[in-house]
Amino acid sequence: MNHFEYRNGEMFAEGVALKRIAQEVGTPAYIYSLATLKRHFKVFDQAFAKARHIVCFSVKANSNLALLRAFAKEGSGFDIVSEGELFRALKVGADPRKIVFSGVGKKRQEIEYALKSGILMFNVESEEELFALDEIAAGIGKKAPISLRVNPDVDPQTHPYISTGMKKAKFGVDIKKSLETYRKAVSLKNVEVVGVDCHIGSQLTSVTPFVDALAKVREYLDRVLAGEMKKEGAQIRYLDLGGGLGINYHDETPPLPDEYAKAIIQGLEGLDITLILEPGRVIVGNAGILLTEVQYIKETDTKKFIIVDGGMNDLIRPALYGSYQAIQPVIENNADKVVADVVGPICESGDFFAKDREIARPKRGDLLAVMSAGAYGFTMASNYNSHPKPPEVLVDGDQYYIVRRRESLDDLINGETIPASLQ
Ligand code: LLP
Repeated sequence: MNHFEYRNGEMFAEGVALKRIAQEVGTPAYIYSLATLKRHFKVFDQAFAKARHIVCFSVKANSNLALLRAFAKEGSGFDIVSEGELFRALKVGADPRKIVFSGVGKKRQEIEYALKSGILMFNVESEEELFALDEIAAGIGKKAPISLRVNPDVDPQTHPYISTGMKKAKFGVDIKKSLETYRKAVSLKNVEVVGVDCHIGSQLTSVTPFVDALAKVREYLDRVLAGEMKKEGAQIRYLDLGGGLGINYHDETPPLPDEYAKAIIQGLEGLDITLILEPGRVIVGNAGILLTEVQYIKETDTKKFIIVDGGMNDLIRPALYGSYQAIQPVIENNADKVVADVVGPICESGDFFAKDREIARPKRGDLLAVMSAGAYGFTMASNYNSHPKPPEVLVDGDQYYIVRRRESLDDLINGETIPASLQ
């Protein structure tokens, strides 16, 4: 459920007309609904009420400070993958004891920063990283709490670019070989083994792969890890199951958080552990849209193009994954339907939001809302073709706030210099 709805033929975000935001803030612009964000967080969190758990919002999905602050106020922890994401989380007053750090390529300075900040745990993705953590922790007189990200070799049945839990992926360590790595971890002086972690992919639309992955991790945890680790004097206290729950972009029917939680909680029976979840998309995906304005309609012998002022630089998902984003007119439009590509201004044929989409024929100046753009929208935006990044707007009831201003032309060249020899 979200708060983007038509009232008298006009789309609103909560109590604010999108047309008004377009007039006052301009287009393209990202617009988020605070009520939707909070609702999604609460529904997800409450679904796990029966299990001791921490929800760590996955910052990569949307890292705007206002949103992170809203989640922190709801009690959220954070799943981070870089020092930049850690910086953002700490800026909004996040509790470091609820921050988990994943990613295959953590750098020395990132590890030091996280150690000094006192995060809950590092999700370690390789043996070399484990040794690096030990050495870096020793260097600053700290102990690094770790869990090993295991790769359970489960097919999440999603786009290959966002599948992470299959053997061929760069993520995690082979679950079957993880005991060896755990043993090494326990023997290290500046590392403390506290958990086990797994994340198999994103935009999953069925519970089955989650259940299969959990069963594999659980079997291994019970049969091998728990006993062995105890023997070695370490106790696994956290089980991090990552994120990945999908949303409805088009005609998908992903499980509801309740069904997902039930299936997971069932798989935890008899286990005395704190569950960690790292949802991103399911919290923010349908809480945001990209508002664009039609610039031109162009017809060739074979195609119709609706050219809008947002492009792959603002929202790259269709170009990168061929993914579907619904597109709706801001003012309901009863014109004849046409089949058209909705494209941006970028000089690439890959720059499209929709291909051969049936849509009520808009005209120059009409506003179109690209729906479900709250996750992996702004965070993946770039300045390609030297377009300033769009603003981000947060709607709260009948108020709206610009939570990131539109970049200016000066922002585009900020930090660039011309060497004296060229002056
Ligand atoms: N935890 C880890 C370790 C992850 O790698 C990810 C996402 C998440 C949690 C959050 O997953 P979510 O709940 O959002 O599915 N740019 C792509 C998605 C990339 C996902 C990367 N990892 C897209 O636009 O579809």
